[in-house]
Order: sequence, then structure tokens, then C-alpha cells
Amino acid sequence: MWFKSITMFYTMRYFFTLLLVILSTLKPGLSSATIFNVLNYGAVGDGRINDSPAFLKAWKDVCKSKSDTSQLIIPAGKTFLLRPIAFNGPCNSNNIYIQLSGNIVAPATKSEYSGSHLNTWIGFSFVNGLIISGKGTIDGRGSMWWKQPCLGNPSPGTSCRPPTAITLNRCNGFKLKDYKSINPARSHITLTNCIKGIITNLKLIAPGESPNTDGIDISSSKEIQVRDSIIATGDDCIAISAGSSLINITGITCGPGHGISIGSLGARGESDIVEDVHVKNCTIIETLNGVRIKTKQTQAIKVSDVTFKWILGTSLTDKAINLNCDQNVGCSNIVFDHVYVQSAVPGMKVFSFCHNAHGTATHTKPKPFCLLK
Ligand SMILES: *[C@@H]1O[C@H](CO)[C@@H](O)[C@H](O)[C@H]1NC(C)=O
Ligand SMILES: *[C@@H]1O[C@H](CO)[C@@H](O)[C@H](O)[C@H]1NC(C)=O
Repeated sequence: MWFKSITMFYTMRYFFTLLLVILSTLKPGLSSATIFNVLNYGAVGDGRINDSPAFLKAWKDVCKSKSDTSQLIIPAGKTFLLRPIAFNGPCNSNNIYIQLSGNIVAPATKSEYSGSHLNTWIGFSFVNGLIISGKGTIDGRGSMWWKQPCLGNPSPGTSCRPPTAITLNRCNGFKLKDYKSINPARSHITLTNCIKGIITNLKLIAPGESPNTDGIDISSSKEIQVRDSIIATGDDCIAISAGSSLINITGITCGPGHGISIGSLGARGESDIVEDVHVKNCTIIETLNGVRIKTKQTQAIKVSDVTFKWILGTSLTDKAINLNCDQNVGCSNIVFDHVYVQSAVPGMKVFSFCHNAHGTATHTKPKPFCLLK
């Protein structure tokens, strides 16, 4: 018996050694990865000292590295205070991997934002193949901005607009996953001019009454997937605006918040295009709206080819479905199929408002009467 287990031990050890050898020969790419830990650049991680200079120094090396994958390590067990910071590319690596194991917090005072002309707290620009992944939390400490959005910023030339927590601008082929973002001053995540991106398994949390804390704002971006995430915030869970197309949203739990929105479009009366948006298998709870398309100067925007299918739910207001299309432009090919919305108040009636919408409604209650059967 004793003997047997010794033999087994050796066999296992041999097996593991062999496995390691096999693994390391299978993944030659790994050996070319270059790893940069912010602690080696003087970051402190006590949540009080400004770690931005250290992060920027580390970023310089990450971005310069010519390896196929270049990694920035933000280690666990520490909290790094960052003042407004811009991580700019283009970088030499095809893949920039940010391992977010530790936490990041925003400054506790507005004066620590002064001098920054960024509209965002943490910005990435022109970084292709960016991956931000890990179990860390990004805390935007936004409450001071919610209370006084336009006060207390003494530096002239600085916008008093609350900053987005994270902005990706012109970042192609990105992936954001597994982390948690809480209490941003404005939106949790803003995407502008990005092509191909995946957002998955995030938790984006802010109080229901926090103003303008969208979950994810997508503008002028294409081929973006947002999947399997929890978004509980004060404004739109996801807002898709001008110039965006091929946006898939799946498996999102949204609420509190304002629901999933397209728009506002045509705010300045110009033509805005949003195309090919698919929202599937989402659970939307305690939101101002469920799914909506918002247009401003309505005559500039033609809404067409919109299908609402298999949507079940309840409404607190009696206007459960609202199709309010422009007098002159109208909406075309609007399809309702298996949409059932009841009142959240037992026994209360709900109705559909339907103005200048064209299309069909089948198996739908309350029925939008301007649509055909
Ligand atoms: C997006 O959704 C559409 C419709 O369900 C599907 O045809 C397409 O393959 C999806 N795209 C991606 C990248 O998942
Ligand atoms: C729908 O989304 C939920 C998460 O909200 C997920 O658990 C489930 O697997 C998804 N189902 C399909 C068919 O994608």
C-alpha cells in the first residue's frame, strides 16, 4: 500500500513534468509575451497616492514592446488611485493585455481632475487588440459629480462635465471582460470609432438615482458584441448612437436604469444612421423603458425594419407600447410578434399608442392599432 502510493507520487510528478514540457512546447507564443507589472514602476496601490505616473511609465514599455502579446499587470490585493489618464497607441504589439486583478479608484476630490482636458477618467486611444480582463473593481467615486455636476471645478478651461469612467476611442478588436465597475461620474464605458469588440461578463453598477450613469455608450462603432453582463445603473443600460452598426446584445440583465436604447438620433437635425442592432435574450427589470428608439428632430430620422419578437413583461404606466412616429416621415416595416405586456398593477388596463407606424402585429397585446394584423 505504502509502496504503491510512493510509486504513484513519482508517476504523478513525472506526469506533471511531462505535461509542463508539453504545454510549454505547445504554446511558443507565450514565451514571446512580455510582462510589465505596475509595481515595478513605482505604483504604490494604497488607494491614496497618485499612481498615474507609474501606470504611464509602465504603459510606455507595454506599448513599445515588440512581442506579439504585451501585458500590463495590475496585481491583486491592492487599490491603485488614478487621476485622469490617457493610454495612447498605436502600440507595437498586436495584443495588449491588461490583467486587472487589483482595484482602481478615482480621485476623491474634483481638484484632482483639474488640468485634465479629457472627457474621461481612463482613456484608451488607438490601441488595437486591447484586452482588459480580471476580477478587479473600477470605482469611479462618482457621487460628488452626481450631486453637483457643474460646480467645484476651479481650473479655467476645464470642462465641468462629469467624466466617463472608461473610454475606448479608435480601439479595434478589443475585449473587456470579468471586471466590475461601480459608481462612475458619468457612463461606465464609452466606445467611439471602434471596430470589432467584445464586452462580456462585466458588472456595471451604480445607484438607480445617479444621473447620466449609462452602462455602455456605443457611438460610431461597428461589430460590437455585448454579452452576459449585469448592468444596474441610473440611465440607459446600453445606448447605441449615430454611426453604429452590427451591434449584438445578448444575455444582459438590465435594471435599474432606463433600459436599452438606440439614440438619441438626429439631435442636430442631421441624418444619423444606426443599423443592424440585435437585442436577444435580455432580462430588463425596473427600468424607465424596456427597449426604445429615441429621435429628437424627428423629421431627420426614418425608423424602419424593426422587429419586436417574444417580449414578455409588465408596465407600471398604462401606455405599455408607444409607437410615436413623425407625422411626415413615419416608421415602416415595424413588426410585432408575440409581444405581451400586462400592467404591473393587477387588474389595471394597458394600451398601445400607435401613430404613423406601418407594419404588422401578430400575437400582440395590447395591440398597436395602426399596424396590420
Ligand atoms: C449578431 O446577431 C445576428 C442575428 O442574430 C447574427 O446573425 C450574427 O451572426 C450575430 N453576430 C455575431 C458577431 O455574433
Ligand atoms: C440567456 O441569458 C442568460 C443570462 O441572462 C443565460 O444564462 C442563458 O444561457 C441565455 N440563453 C441563451 C439561449 O442564450
